[in-house]
Amino acid sequence: DLEKANYKARIKQLLVERDAVLVAHYYTDPEIQALAEETGGCVSDSLEMARFGRDHPAKTLIVAGVKFMGETSKILSPEKTVLMPTLDATCSLDIGCPIDTFSKFCDAHPDHTVVVYANTSAAVKARADWVVTSSIALEIVEHLDSQGKKIIWGPDRHLGSYIAKQTGAEMLMWQGDCIVHDEFKAKALRELKIKHPDAAILVHPESPASVVELADAVGSTSQLIKAAQTMINDTFIVATDRGIFYKMQQGAPDKILIEAPTGGNGATCRSCAHCPWMAMNGLQAIEASLTATDTSPHEIFVDDDLREAALVPLDRMLNFAQ
Ligand code: 13P
Ligand code: SF4
Repeated sequence: DLEKANYKARIKQLLVERDAVLVAHYYTDPEIQALAEETGGCVSDSLEMARFGRDHPAKTLIVAGVKFMGETSKILSPEKTVLMPTLDATCSLDIGCPIDTFSKFCDAHPDHTVVVYANTSAAVKARADWVVTSSIALEIVEHLDSQGKKIIWGPDRHLGSYIAKQTGAEMLMWQGDCIVHDEFKAKALRELKIKHPDAAILVHPESPASVVELADAVGSTSQLIKAAQTMINDTFIVATDRGIFYKMQQGAPDKILIEAPTGGNGATCRSCAHCPWMAMNGLQAIEASLTATDTSPHEIFVDDDLREAALVPLDRMLNFAQ
């Protein structure tokens, strides 16, 4: 509609005027992803968002995603202004892993290597030996396990259990979860599969083990998009945030994509399968981040000491991933 068109035109103009680039996650709403593409920004998983922001020459990064993504960008590019549509866009994994208790947990096991998921605060990253995202977690834990390291893993217990199972690594697990992925239901998924026997099931490993067990492919957002493109099936049942359907369908235009059930009896519930914090990244909020005279509701700042400490495990991941 006209209002949306006006917002988009205004944002495009502001991005140019402010030497800014829009970096969006696959879970943001399709119109936000499309805008990032149209304006030369990027739409990607959390690992690629970090790399794109670091390497792009723009003075300002507009990070449409959740807070840890903005913080990671600032840690990697302290000289850039990092703005977010809203700093209220957080993540249940970040909320469920406060630095004080996590640090005590680590202190109690000093002989363990601390591996944390990117979905954490700068302070938790600063306490870690390694940061990982879901697209690189398995390889990094495999690498550490091959060196005989015992691991503290936080905060996502489902992703941690999946990795422990795959690698056989000894992992002490923090008990966090993602409120979106934790809602996928194995029983209803089995019922849905009976209705679509030829469909392949694609699952993000933040989902419960009972759901992961039913998967034909398990992976990060970018890995699942690739799977839909390369697997021969015509139909896919997808257990992750529905925001992913925009890029997944773009990459596999002839395939049928179905949401995995979050409720009982194969029913999907509208409020599930979409992260409430990702959904805060609307056009109006993006425009506000670019026009605000008081940038405090939008701008990411990371304390210098914390930034330097968090950069070490983040760089370790980025160098490993190269
Ligand atoms: P990816 O790292 O697979 O993009 O997803 C992590 C996630 O859940 C972001 O919210
Ligand atoms: Fe966090 Fe889950 Fe939302 Fe990703 S989808 S930001 S893991 S709450």
